[in-house]
Amino acid sequence: MGELAIRDLSVTYGRGGAARTVVKHADLVIPQGKVIGLVGESGSGKSTVARAILGLVKPSGGVVTMDGVNLASLRAAERARRVQMIFQDPYGSLNPRMTVGQIVAEALSHRGLRPAERRAEVLRLLELVSMSSEVVPRLPRRLSGGQRQRVAIARAFAAQPDVIVADEITSALDVSVQAQVLNVLREILASERHSMLFISHNLAVVRYICDHVAVMQEGVIVEQGDVEQVMGSPQHDYTRALLAAVPRLV
Ligand SMILES: Nc1ncnc2c1ncn2[C@@H]1O[C@H](COP(=O)(O)OP(=O)(O)O)[C@@H](O)[C@H]1O
Ligand SMILES: [Mg+2]
Repeated sequence: MGELAIRDLSVTYGRGGAARTVVKHADLVIPQGKVIGLVGESGSGKSTVARAILGLVKPSGGVVTMDGVNLASLRAAERARRVQMIFQDPYGSLNPRMTVGQIVAEALSHRGLRPAERRAEVLRLLELVSMSSEVVPRLPRRLSGGQRQRVAIARAFAAQPDVIVADEITSALDVSVQAQVLNVLREILASERHSMLFISHNLAVVRYICDHVAVMQEGVIVEQGDVEQVMGSPQHDYTRALLAAVPRLV
């Protein structure tokens, strides 16, 4: 774990006349062990921030650092070890040919555990996401969407990266399943405190999970701070509009 800092980040898609800057001079710090929400409407640039952290798009300006080290200076494999992603689509993100046990075990393979310790750690992580040892030999296609997302959460924590980026991880799930997955995430965060960027278009969800929140409108972070403070007395019209638009989920 470390401190991830996004400084003056801008990302432009396209070139020449078609160029569109969709992230504009964004500043965001994810202190060690804190869960920072990034909230905004669809198209506001949230996933582009995630892609810039992962190195999937090249910033047109600014920098992403981990404990002062520019992530762009790291090899892809090293960067992938330091930043783990949990994706929105629970069907595309797990290798269909690996069992649940193999998926979680692979994520912790670099931790130097002995086989018996590794097996115990896999079971411990699955238990933290409310899954029994019965799922260990199963392939992803034999899991529901909610179960898959729980495996993806366990895998991200298994890897012990510096930071976990979770992008709309419940948006593709049924509402009842969303609450289950969010509860599981909250529980695992309570026992395995971890730096996380939690991206969602839903402020109620962010309030449930995060310590701090940054509000993004058309590529600009218009407001950020302690989640209760921002939600309790929003300073920006856009934040007020987002608050008015979402039903309380939890
Ligand atoms: N690869 C791309 N090429 C061009 N435009 C893109 C690309 N990806 C996203 N965009 C545009 O960038 C804007 C921000 O997208 P995105 O970061 O996905 O927003 P969010 O995650 O908040 O919904 C949107 O207008 C989207 O259409
Ligand atoms: Mg997105």
